[in-house]
Amino acid sequence: MPKVTFLPLKQTVEANPGDSILETALAHDIPLHHACGGYCACTTCQVRVIEGAQNLSSMEEEETERLERADDAAANSRLGCQAKVNGDVVVEMVHLD
Ligand code: FES
Repeated sequence: MPKVTFLPLKQTVEANPGDSILETALAHDIPLHHACGGYCACTTCQVRVIEGAQNLSSMEEEETERLERADDAAANSRLGCQAKVNGDVVVEMVHLD
């Protein structure tokens, strides 16, 4: 099973292959925000990928466009609700409170 580590919590959990980062977080009570419910409409689920970017599904146009409009997006940003986990990955949550 792929492992997802959530920073800054330093919490590592197992993911079902093909589940999104958001689905993985919620399955383990990790408080990753998801204001739009996981429909690529808000960016509150944004994470920065620290390790294992190649183990995530590639970005679709909708995710790319949504991140381009986010003030706080970085080159390694992904939307937790869109990025599907295929292998080990370390991500940092952007919206924490
Ligand atoms: S939960 Fe809204 S974009 Fe991911």
